[in-house]
Amino acid sequence: MCGIVGYIGWRDAAPLVIEGLKRLEYRGYDSFGVATENGQIRVVKKSGRISENGADLTSLTGQIGIGHTRWATHGVPNDTNAHPHTDCTGRIAVVHNGIIENYALLKRKLIERGHRFKSETDTEVIAHLIEEYYKGDLLTAVGETLRHLEGSYAVLAIAENDPRIIVARKSSPLVLGIGDGEMLCASDITPLLEHTERAVFLKDGDIAALTPSRIDIYHDGVPVERSVDHITWSLDDARKGGFEHYMLKEIYEQPKVFFDTVKSTENDSRLPMLRIPAEVTVVACGTSYHAALIFRYLAEEYSHKRVSVEFASEFKYYTPPIRDMVIAVTQSGETADTLAAIERAKSRNCSTLAITNVLGSSITRIADWTLFMCAGPEISVAATKSFTAQLAVFMAILNEMCDGRFTDTLARAHCSVERVLSYELEDAVAIIKNASEMFYVGRGVFYPVALEGALKMKEISYIHAEGYAAGELKHGPFALLSEETPVVAICTPSPTYGVMLSNIKEMKARGAPVIGIGAEGDTEAQSIVDVFIPVPEDHQIVQALTVSVVLQLLAYHTAIALNRDIDKPRNLAKSVTVE
Ligand code: F6R
Repeated sequence: MCGIVGYIGWRDAAPLVIEGLKRLEYRGYDSFGVATENGQIRVVKKSGRISENGADLTSLTGQIGIGHTRWATHGVPNDTNAHPHTDCTGRIAVVHNGIIENYALLKRKLIERGHRFKSETDTEVIAHLIEEYYKGDLLTAVGETLRHLEGSYAVLAIAENDPRIIVARKSSPLVLGIGDGEMLCASDITPLLEHTERAVFLKDGDIAALTPSRIDIYHDGVPVERSVDHITWSLDDARKGGFEHYMLKEIYEQPKVFFDTVKSTENDSRLPMLRIPAEVTVVACGTSYHAALIFRYLAEEYSHKRVSVEFASEFKYYTPPIRDMVIAVTQSGETADTLAAIERAKSRNCSTLAITNVLGSSITRIADWTLFMCAGPEISVAATKSFTAQLAVFMAILNEMCDGRFTDTLARAHCSVERVLSYELEDAVAIIKNASEMFYVGRGVFYPVALEGALKMKEISYIHAEGYAAGELKHGPFALLSEETPVVAICTPSPTYGVMLSNIKEMKARGAPVIGIGAEGDTEAQSIVDVFIPVPEDHQIVQALTVSVVLQLLAYHTAIALNRDIDKPRNLAKSVTVE
């Protein structure tokens, strides 16, 4: 969590840093700040969001700047705890993403040595340690400082009269952008898109000195070369493109994302070599976990492989017996729990495969293999197109496991998704928007689809929504059913269609308003529910996709009706880089 940006070059740094931070706000948005160097260090920092805050930046002159947008871990979100943090003299400024685990001990020792702290953050110890070691060379002082830090960091440091930004990373992402007479650095590539297509992804343990024309990288004190990657994402990918919210834009991108990702996975020459073994474990969190559960249902039904799916946060502490291969699925490639789980799998000598959206992300360095989703930058905190892209990779893997049985189905799946995009779902929203709790139910592959639908509703509308396997509702949750608890029931054609209709009648008998999602033309289902949402009839692997998109839209339009902050729901951040 937290986003950091740095600029050094020939232009005024502060406005560029602020623009970059706006692109990273999805990583945290409870406070922000910028520091520049122009013969002296100046800092402006504030609680609240950059986009909504009229902070006066006129004092921030100079062509060297660093900035931060925060998701609080240590210390409440206020002006003082906002980054950048400075040392006692105010001549050194740092921004940091990550957690310094031993900060309390370091802080105690620094206080004993006379340092005065202003904030409650772990980050401030970095500024004070640099001050301790600073003898005129910032690179050396940062290098010395890092030797004392335990935990994770991507850190940027500047000092008065030093014409460089010193950057370092360990277990937190950091990418450098090479411009024309200017260099940038950021937590991910979105702030770089408008300035350059050339990026350098630092490795864990790297420390680098940036000037407008040079990047000098060191690892364990030794100069090293890192390759320059070409960024394929465009600036338009990262803009709203006329949509009111990123979430809606990203929902609309899904037909293309699915099509592109299936094609790119199928064309990946390594796919046939992957040889998915008879037993596979998938580790993931949140929405990615739900995508993995869908894969489990499909893989077990069609390929007869055994797929277990584990929460990454549990797996790393309570590792079940695992065999052969562990797959980690993660949009960001930076989720701390998922990284720890895949490390754990490696320590057990399993082969490891990562499915991720982000080139150069940490997971790509750990896993033996990586398959990339073609989702482009996902800015909205609520995952939508990355979920679809994860399903696309999983379905291409499934197709490979099933000797191409689904090639045609996958090639036209995007057409079904296209058809549901314009649904505004007013009748369903009218039922849901006044509820404080609700259920989503489905069977088979539609059970994880229900879980994902409930998660989307929770996170952006703040309505308490629970996903259930439809048959389980009568084993307890029925006690909660009343006229005030709407149920979204997925009743598309499947071997369990009949029993789903019986379940719906049972719920109706307890007074619950039911919103049914079923196949177009299904008059029987339509006749027993309060609101019927039709989806195009298709293979269940496609309907898992179309129903998921309908549920994203249901959450979106409900959140709009409730006037929620769609792209930045309260208390959340997009990349969860802490345990
Ligand atoms: C929900 C959401 C989260 C993420 C989860 C894992 O909309 O976005 O539940 O899915 O934090 O993130 P990644 O996929 O980056 O590992």
